[in-house]
Amino acid sequence: EKTWVRMVTAQTPTNIAVIKYWGKRDETLILPVNDSISVTLDPAHLCTTTTVAASPSFDQDRMWLNGKEISLSGGRYQNCLREIRARACEVEDKEKGIKISKKDWEKLHLHVASYNNFPTAAGLASSAAGFACLVFALAKLMNAKEDNSDLSAIARQGSGSACRSLFGGFVKWIMGKAEDGSDSLAVQLVDEKHWDELVIIIAVVSSRQKETSSTTGMRDSVETSLLLQHRAKEVVPKRIKHMGEAIKNRDFGSFAQLTCADSNQFHAVCLDTSPPIFYMNDTSHRQVKIISCVEKWNCSEGTPQVGLFVCFSLFCLGQCASHSRSLTLKQVAYTFDAGPNAVLIAHNRKAATQLMQKLLFCFPPSSDADLNSYVIGDKSILK
Ligand code: PMV
Repeated sequence: EKTWVRMVTAQTPTNIAVIKYWGKRDETLILPVNDSISVTLDPAHLCTTTTVAASPSFDQDRMWLNGKEISLSGGRYQNCLREIRARACEVEDKEKGIKISKKDWEKLHLHVASYNNFPTAAGLASSAAGFACLVFALAKLMNAKEDNSDLSAIARQGSGSACRSLFGGFVKWIMGKAEDGSDSLAVQLVDEKHWDELVIIIAVVSSRQKETSSTTGMRDSVETSLLLQHRAKEVVPKRIKHMGEAIKNRDFGSFAQLTCADSNQFHAVCLDTSPPIFYMNDTSHRQVKIISCVEKWNCSEGTPQVGLFVCFSLFCLGQCASHSRSLTLKQVAYTFDAGPNAVLIAHNRKAATQLMQKLLFCFPPSSDADLNSYVIGDKSILK
């Protein structure tokens, strides 16, 4: 009997939250306790490429990640596969002479091959790009008619942050109200062209895997942190509104202030959790140094800095002449996820170049093999 294979390949970048998602109100459906906002990276640098294939000759669902076979039996994979299969539509490929009915999709097995174009061992979040790419590729394979927001609600069930990778530019994950999670999905705030002068630099501070998974960490925080309750109810709703405005107006000062404050509050929630979570602990020396570097630069009053930060004074002299802290010109925002790597967002290419010089001065690669600066291109991340 004549056999055939139908294949689709998709590519999806990862995203970095500037207003963090931390805490689930429903662990199975992955429903968050607050809205979040992220920026999607340039696919040329941090992305997943996934090929999905269906054929009557496959006798079971199988998946390979970076060339190594992994199990698809986990609940998160199964939820995504089930949801997409339920939305499969008829496919007719005249060239290959194949016709797959809605009913056929229930019986057909799948093979999935997924690759990350960045070092997996570097501890850079890969599940966001991975699940977004898997869901998108499967939807195309099975001719599902849902739009990207609908697909985001499926990717969410693989990994919460994955729902935001279905769009480029700046993306909001609306927490939703419905118990079945149908309104907990991602929407694009602005596309990738809106603020294309921004440059993102990721400093790989440590290649060690995080000690507390986000699933365990979030569960502990929801159960024990009062700060989390306050953050979700009182703080994030206001920040989401202000961040949306800052992005719309390309107001880098407000954007940087909110991004840094939200990263710091997320790590404060981790500390407020019992037992406390120290995502910034194992490499805190370097992290604190990076934060201090950025804060000093952002708050510089044009006075030369001395000692450790002498490198900064060379660059910020004459650049931030304001004498009021509130009027200072911010050039760089920092944010840290559930791991030690620093994500630095520079206002433009000039600020990014200066930041790289500072980072290389403070952390000379030759004297510290653990810190490699992983630069997300020398062009805008949003192009
Ligand atoms: O989607 P998860 O389970 O990997 O959780 C991501 C949590 C953070 O990266 C810390 C914040 C976020 O909004 O991406």
